[in-house]
Amino acid sequence: MERLISYFTLSVLLNVFGWSRSQPALSTAEQHASFNRVLTNGTYDSRIRPHLPDGKPTNVTVDIAINGFGEFNTANMDFSVSIYLRQRWNDPRLAFNAFNLSSATAITLSDKVLTDIWVPDLFFYNEKQGWKHDITTPNVLIRIAPSGDILYSQRISMKLSCLYDFYKFPMDSQTCRIEIHSYAYTTEDVNIFWKETDPIQRKDDLYLPEFTLESDSPKYCTTGTSTGEYPCIYAEFQLSRDMRYYVLNVYAPSFVVVIISFVNFMIDPRATPARVSIGVITVLTITTQSVTLQQRLPRVSYIKAVDVWMAVCLIFVVASMLEYAAANVMLQREARQKEKATRPEKNANIKKAFQGPMDNMIMSNIPLTLPEVAEAVPLRRQKQCHVSADNLDFTPLHSKWNADNLDKLSRIAFTSAFLLFNVIYWCVYMLALV
Ligand SMILES: *[C@@H]1O[C@H](CO)[C@@H](O)[C@H](O)[C@H]1NC(C)=O
Ligand SMILES: *[C@@H]1O[C@H](CO)[C@@H](O)[C@H](O)[C@H]1NC(C)=O
Ligand SMILES: *[C@@H]1O[C@H](CO)[C@@H](O)[C@H](O)[C@H]1NC(C)=O
Repeated sequence: MERLISYFTLSVLLNVFGWSRSQPALSTAEQHASFNRVLTNGTYDSRIRPHLPDGKPTNVTVDIAINGFGEFNTANMDFSVSIYLRQRWNDPRLAFNAFNLSSATAITLSDKVLTDIWVPDLFFYNEKQGWKHDITTPNVLIRIAPSGDILYSQRISMKLSCLYDFYKFPMDSQTCRIEIHSYAYTTEDVNIFWKETDPIQRKDDLYLPEFTLESDSPKYCTTGTSTGEYPCIYAEFQLSRDMRYYVLNVYAPSFVVVIISFVNFMIDPRATPARVSIGVITVLTITTQSVTLQQRLPRVSYIKAVDVWMAVCLIFVVASMLEYAAANVMLQREARQKEKATRPEKNANIKKAFQGPMDNMIMSNIPLTLPEVAEAVPLRRQKQCHVSADNLDFTPLHSKWNADNLDKLSRIAFTSAFLLFNVIYWCVYMLALV
């Protein structure tokens, strides 16, 4: 109490000399005496809240100024923020306008006065870690107006928890809050209100890594518990993720890898080393990208938008590798057929006989059941007339169904399927259809 008195005295003296010299006020000695009188007769008890004798709750008006946002840590489900927390309340016991100083302006006191006066017991409900700044002295402002209105401002940096929802990651938007409660007082004792004007201030050039701050809104969350109804307010921030980072580092690379895997269809299926290496490399690249990405994301049990993308990319590269397997099987089968067709030398004479002008005759006149003739006809011809014994093993369609055609078909089918997937994927997630 002694200290409080000396602060008051000093401040008032300064105030009077500095600001109110022209006012017809009491002499310095008299003011000094007034303060001493009111503050030394032991009526001020910092343990008792203001307005307790009136039976009215103490009303604390709060506003915050956002100094800056730090990292939005998705893996730890928190974000950091640096704010100025300003509280205003009225303590009639500290009013000094009763002492002929009504012309005096508010006085600013040092942070040491905090132990001598009553201050609200606000706390941040979702705080994980917090720092009060005290370089070079504690970053605190206490100003008392003649009416006993107190302004208490302090600078705080905190790590606050935020329940991120990753269903649409990285096309998501998040809602994070700064929630302020009174720790001990119920609404019967202390009320917390947002300041009427400008309760949440922020710099225009506020920079947020990864996110864009869409809006902020002051809200109330006063709820009853078994020990009473506790005052609660919160500032809600709507954040939408700036997904350029993920487009550049996740979507573009995997898109390119899938397109590269489609290059496979343009390479001759007989070039086994080229096709196998492209297939293996693309599958490995997508797998690596997927693993690297997962390391940076929280382990959630549900499927994120980016998981859908990576899974489909993996399916496409694996499918284009399997397509090569199918093409290869067809090549082997073709090779076997060719071998069979060229092997029989005993029919060389018949073969000769049917070459040249006799070709047309084969088509029209040779019965289908003549295997010897059929075997003798070169493969090129067999395809045209379907008389080969080998050919009878397969459906007529099979002749068109070779590795080259499969590649041609896959080229169109895979590319259009992937483009269709892209259209659907981006529509669904960007237009918020889910
Ligand atoms: C301080 O004591 C004086 C009398 O000694 C009394 O008149 C005055 O009201 C007291 N101050 C307060 C704030 O109660
Ligand atoms: C605080 O606010 C409540 C409700 O707005 C009001 O009833 C009460 O009188 C106020 N308290 C003081 C000390 O002004
Ligand atoms: C306030 O000042 C007036 C004259 O300006 C004086 O009559 C009155 O006694 C003073 N009151 C106190 C509490 O000092």
